Amino acid sequence: MKKKQLIITVFSLVLSLAQPIVAQDVEFTLKEQPNAPEISKHIYGHFAEHLGRCIYDGIFVGENNESIPNTNGVRNDIIEALKALKIPNLRWPGGCFADTYHWKDGIGSKEDRPTIVNQWWGGSTEDNSFGTHDFLNLCEILDTEPYLAANVGSGTVKEFTDWIQYVGHDGVSPMADLRKENGREKSWDVKYWGVGNEMWGCGGNMTPEYYANLYRQYATFMTSWTNDSKLFRIASGANVADYHWTEVLMRDIPKNLIEGVALHSYSFVKWENKSSDTKFNEVEYFGTMETALKMEELVQKHTDIMDKYDPEHKVALIVDEWGGWYESEEPEKGVLYQQNTMRDAMIAGATLNIFNNHAKRVKMANLAQTVNVLQAVILTEGEKMILTPTYHVMKMYTVHHDATLIPTNFKSPKYTVEGKSLDAISISASKDKKGNINVSLVNIDAHKSYTIKINVKDLNVKNVIGNILKAKALQDHNSFDNPNKIIPKEFKDFKLKKGELEIELPPFSVVVLDVY
Ligand code: AHR
Repeated sequence: MKKKQLIITVFSLVLSLAQPIVAQDVEFTLKEQPNAPEISKHIYGHFAEHLGRCIYDGIFVGENNESIPNTNGVRNDIIEALKALKIPNLRWPGGCFADTYHWKDGIGSKEDRPTIVNQWWGGSTEDNSFGTHDFLNLCEILDTEPYLAANVGSGTVKEFTDWIQYVGHDGVSPMADLRKENGREKSWDVKYWGVGNEMWGCGGNMTPEYYANLYRQYATFMTSWTNDSKLFRIASGANVADYHWTEVLMRDIPKNLIEGVALHSYSFVKWENKSSDTKFNEVEYFGTMETALKMEELVQKHTDIMDKYDPEHKVALIVDEWGGWYESEEPEKGVLYQQNTMRDAMIAGATLNIFNNHAKRVKMANLAQTVNVLQAVILTEGEKMILTPTYHVMKMYTVHHDATLIPTNFKSPKYTVEGKSLDAISISASKDKKGNINVSLVNIDAHKSYTIKINVKDLNVKNVIGNILKAKALQDHNSFDNPNKIIPKEFKDFKLKKGELEIELPPFSVVVLDVY
């Protein structure tokens, strides 16, 4: 090669590295469909367990805390942030913790409450100062529906049903009287009840056949104490691809005893070798996205089994634990504390698109977890609080809450690393109650930008506005020193011409468009 030619080649190589490579187009038509399901806002639910610094030194800093502004011990900045996120429901108190929790230890005068040793998570001794009243009052402040995961593994039917009576009975009864003695006259409205958690593991290492029988027993005695509402009973569901678990539950539990069956699936490279939360390479990023996108197959296959036993869709699939799980670079910050990077934004955007697109069966999901644990939307450090990229994705996606799904059908280009390929693009769309159409698009490709061409002729579109979440590097994150490094910005990289909306979607970005 001549010297001049070599210089030109090197120059164009540098240019191609500096700018995202624009690759193959994605094309589809956006068209409303009759009988399309509503995307339940409960798909955007959250999960707060007694684990690490999620509750204590996270959400709850205590009524006597003078340095952190709080309402009944709950941080005001967290209340504000969760209200802005319009969280539709909050699952509590576990996780694995749920099957060790005896709710009566967390009521009455705080000085008299016994302690509990958190046997699953670090062996810390907790003083039970955050209990039933604290949690349900918080849900009222947040205007969110409580989802109580109750103890089956080490509890009894009586303990379980007493809890239902304690929170839900307005008449005269032993538990309603006790609640009133503890300062709460009126019942709370608790609809969602988890019948144990991970019964195949920390909940008791049960077989599905054994649990299905036990579930039938518990569910039989679960009574709603108000005339106008029915309890929503959620069976502890499968671990990832354990289809046999779902099959047995759907086969053995009569449909009049169950409203939801759960599923748990986390994203990591490998369970034995999770990557660092911030110092991961592209192969590790790809591996994490591989498990995240697997959610599509999991939801489809569990749905297929449910369809077989419940063709009328009476039982909902509830993905009540999902999110990324890594090794923290700052383990001193608490059990399962981890930072939250653009990789997490990719997981959140793509997973929520999967749930939206499966809205017919998936009626609720809970991101693990709300504060300072796993794929948190909020991180705290003393008086400081930051919102993570995942928070911003969840907030951008609020437009889909209770909107009608508009199914999208397209062929995604592939994101390839070391010979393995994943779909680069994920999209979901919906029409809200005001008639606005919202489209959320995710490009997980670490290098290439894609042109998305959407035929919107049927929709009489006049205007488009949008937001984008992106960063310079996949490992970028918000920190306590730089809390706004990654925030949504106005998205302008689109053209609307002759009924076609053309979008340029940069590498590892999330875009939400309001088309009206
Ligand atoms: O979210 C952390 C843990 O993951 C939960 O306690 C448990 O249910 C799951 O295994």
